[in-house]
Amino acid sequence: MSLLRNLLLAGVAAASLSGMAYAANDMSPEAIAERTKPVGSVYTAADLEGIVDSAAAGNSDEPAAPRSGEAVFTAACSACHATGAAGAPIKGDAAAWEPRVAKGRDTLLSHALNGFNAMPPRGACGNCSDEEIANAVDYMLDAI
Ligand code: HEC
Repeated sequence: MSLLRNLLLAGVAAASLSGMAYAANDMSPEAIAERTKPVGSVYTAADLEGIVDSAAAGNSDEPAAPRSGEAVFTAACSACHATGAAGAPIKGDAAAWEPRVAKGRDTLLSHALNGFNAMPPRGACGNCSDEEIANAVDYMLDAI
């Protein structure tokens, strides 16, 4: 290998190293955005659909579809209605639910939404829709 060729290779290596250093010091907004962009930021139209829909509705915490009664019960009602805490009627306890069922589903649903004695409005679930609360009430009524 000739001395000239070695010098040339060294020159190329040095040039590309200084190029890298230059790129890393590029503080233009485009260069910073490129360096700090998230890995794998590829969205399909289907991914964006749910995000755009819920953002447009102004409640991005809520899932697009209403949660099932079981899911809402587990998340928001079971603390009391699985344990009897605060005197709550336990899911599946027919004797505790019978006199309540006699009041009619509409009254029970209204009490679930608006509160009733130690029963907090919506079971204190801040992001439960009316439909989700109704699903949870029906889930408990179905269990008797
Ligand atoms: C902090 C505890 C607590 C949580 C959480 C809670 N409940 Fe209750 N709930 C109660 C208590 C206590 C009662 C009984 C109130 C009474 O009869 O005086 C009750 C009663 C009820 C009743 C019967 C009302 C009636 O008129 O007899 C329904 C229906 C009900 N809850 C639904 C729900 C649903 C649905 C959720 C979850 C979204 C939920 N509760 C979460 C404490 C709770």
